[in-house]
Amino acid sequence: MSETQSHAGPISALRLDERLRDTKLFFSQALRTFHATGSILPSSGALAHEMAEHVRHRPDPDQPLRILEAGAGTGAISRGIAAAMRPGDTVDFVEANPEFSAYVEELLETDPVMSRVADAASVHTCLVNDMGTDRSYDVIVSGLPFANFTADQVEEVFDYYFTVLRPGGTLSFYGYLYTKEVKAVIAKREDYLRQARSSWVVQDRIDRYGIGSEKVFANVPPAWVHHLRKPEWESSSDHSRSV
Ligand SMILES: C[S@@+](CC[C@H](N)C(=O)[O-])C[C@H]1O[C@@H](n2cnc3c(N)ncnc32)[C@H](O)[C@@H]1O
Repeated sequence: MSETQSHAGPISALRLDERLRDTKLFFSQALRTFHATGSILPSSGALAHEMAEHVRHRPDPDQPLRILEAGAGTGAISRGIAAAMRPGDTVDFVEANPEFSAYVEELLETDPVMSRVADAASVHTCLVNDMGTDRSYDVIVSGLPFANFTADQVEEVFDYYFTVLRPGGTLSFYGYLYTKEVKAVIAKREDYLRQARSSWVVQDRIDRYGIGSEKVFANVPPAWVHHLRKPEWESSSDHSRSV
């Protein structure tokens, strides 16, 4: 495991007023729906860069990728994905909050990095596991706040990802460093236990399918990015938790 200390990433090219607009919308939605939003600030360029690792580095450079981003928010990680996309790639941006999905639609017209991929992108306003299983992806990038979910919700989302991920495809997601330690001090007991249970489900998937984890300190708060690969031999019905 290595550590990504800093990376300016595509977001550094944004003008300050655009960055502030993202942050203002993100913060106001976080105050309204913290449980689903899971953070008070959008991800940094460094985190976006690491999350797009498997869009940038692909096993076959001539093979276009089908990409899913879950929980696009104000597009912080979407920009990292868009910057790494190549001609022929397609991307589905999925976001449950309609204020955020409308914002991502707008970015596809106005943002210099996002507008490059506008013809190859679709925005979906729904829960990611309501997208249906009649689709298949090479790369899934998930920004969902698993630490705020119950263990059953985490399991349901991972099952969905591993159903629509093609064998050999990758899933990248992040979690914040030290959340468990902070919750142990400040959270109510039931919330601490809920998070402990959901983190076991996450850890189980990392243990079974992990291919690398990176710490990204240049983010508020600092984060762990985990990269998983669905085995070539695994069918869609084999991937539920084995405990
Ligand atoms: C931690 S924020 C990440 C936003 C953005 N990707 C970033 O990194 O700044 C999580 C996002 O996931 C969305 N979300 C939460 N649960 C979801 C679900 N089940 N399906 C789709 N989006 C969801 C929230 O509305 C929120 O925008």
